[in-house]
Amino acid sequence: MKSTIFIGLAIICLQYSNVNTLDNGLAKRPPMGWMSWQRYRCIIDCDTYPSECISEWLFKNVTDHFISDGYKEAGYEYIIIDDCWMEMERDPITQELVPDRKRFPSGMKALADYVHSKGLKFGIYEDYGTHTCMGVYPGVINHMELDANTFAKWDVDYVKLDGCYAELDDMDKGYPEFGRLLNATGRPMVYSCSWPVYQEYNGIMPNYEALKKHCNLWRNWGDIQDSYVILNEITEYFAMNASRIQPHAGPGHWNDPDMLLIGNYGLSFDQSKSQMAIWAILAAPLLMSNDLKNIRPEFREILINPQVIAVNQDELGIQGTRLKIDHEIETWIRPITPVANGLYSYAVAWASKRDDGSPYAIKVKLSDLGLTCDKGYTITDLFDEENKLNNIYNVNHNITVRINPSGVIFYKFTPAVHENSV
Ligand SMILES: *[C@@H]1O[C@H](CO)[C@@H](O)[C@H](O)[C@H]1NC(C)=O
Ligand SMILES: *[C@@H]1O[C@H](CO)[C@@H](O)[C@H](O)[C@H]1NC(C)=O
Ligand SMILES: *[C@@H]1O[C@H](CO)[C@@H](O)[C@H](O)[C@H]1NC(C)=O
Repeated sequence: MKSTIFIGLAIICLQYSNVNTLDNGLAKRPPMGWMSWQRYRCIIDCDTYPSECISEWLFKNVTDHFISDGYKEAGYEYIIIDDCWMEMERDPITQELVPDRKRFPSGMKALADYVHSKGLKFGIYEDYGTHTCMGVYPGVINHMELDANTFAKWDVDYVKLDGCYAELDDMDKGYPEFGRLLNATGRPMVYSCSWPVYQEYNGIMPNYEALKKHCNLWRNWGDIQDSYVILNEITEYFAMNASRIQPHAGPGHWNDPDMLLIGNYGLSFDQSKSQMAIWAILAAPLLMSNDLKNIRPEFREILINPQVIAVNQDELGIQGTRLKIDHEIETWIRPITPVANGLYSYAVAWASKRDDGSPYAIKVKLSDLGLTCDKGYTITDLFDEENKLNNIYNVNHNITVRINPSGVIFYKFTPAVHENSV
């Protein structure tokens, strides 16, 4: 009886989510790509910093590295320009947005063509308000239809719409309106909305049903900075607010904890693995923002790790959560495929917040993670294929995991029954 009710509810939820989510066919898995902001900010002085300034050269170089260094092969797809790509004035006659004439001399359509010629996709940034967040470039507010059409004309595949210099009260109407205008162009474009973060910061609870209906992804909380402290503030938000935001993630519509810091200055090797694991648990967009021409090989290895990416891109699209904190070791868990006999597999990350020097060992009983398959589980170490855990582990078994300070151990538990059995 109980299970009939449950199945009934599940079907209602499924139908409900079908009619109430954005149906542009995009972002069925969390988007993967590269975005300029975190690493390159608003560097516009190309005479002094030719290989760092926001310019068509930079995005072509990133595109080339996607091909030559295996990022495309690993699944990274979108090359996204953030703020500071525009002239400060619209075209006086057409009122269209104009890419900076010196830094994007070939124009955006030509850059999109270049990205497309390599089998990748092209994204751009704008702002719902009067100005973008830098305060000097024009926002879309009085030219929404024109700008949506301009992006379509340039063959843009992904639009991030920020929320600076905008009226909070207008956002609930304005963001959906821009989404309708993108749809009306006939060109499918991933739509990344920043409206919840502005509302959450001002104590307004965002309407997540509306977000799902109008956006493919949305930024819930503050900007990431190149710092482990800020990274932890964001994961803390995702842990503490999970009951409110987790149910709204799924194929086509994702919560976005912001860009990957990996390969930059602020995170150590262990902290970088920790970000990658938690972003995989959270079904987060994987948007790198780093210097691909100078990245150290060990960071690249983290970013292209196929087993970790497979967790992130898992087809069920269920966002994971933080299960508990014990001795400053956080346990994060996410249900994933394969599902056998109705039982999920799980990705589990133990992220240490400790700073006492040596790796810290904890004992973990499988049943304490909520694992119930009576035939037991096989375990894979997702960061270390060499570390084969060959046995099948009973749910009453205690395993020992030993986590480096500020590092992570990331395992996958698969029910020990044949994958195809039902
Ligand atoms: C990117 O630019 C740098 C020069 O700053 C160059 O050395 C490198 O080869 C370029 N990358 C690719 C893949 O062409
Ligand atoms: C526009 O929306 C309709 C209805 O949701 C959808 O079927 C269609 O694929 C969308 N088109 C684009 C280009 O996003
Ligand atoms: C949401 O996250 C913020 C930041 O971590 C926290 O201050 C707040 O208490 C959380 N809200 C809830 C309802 O837990």
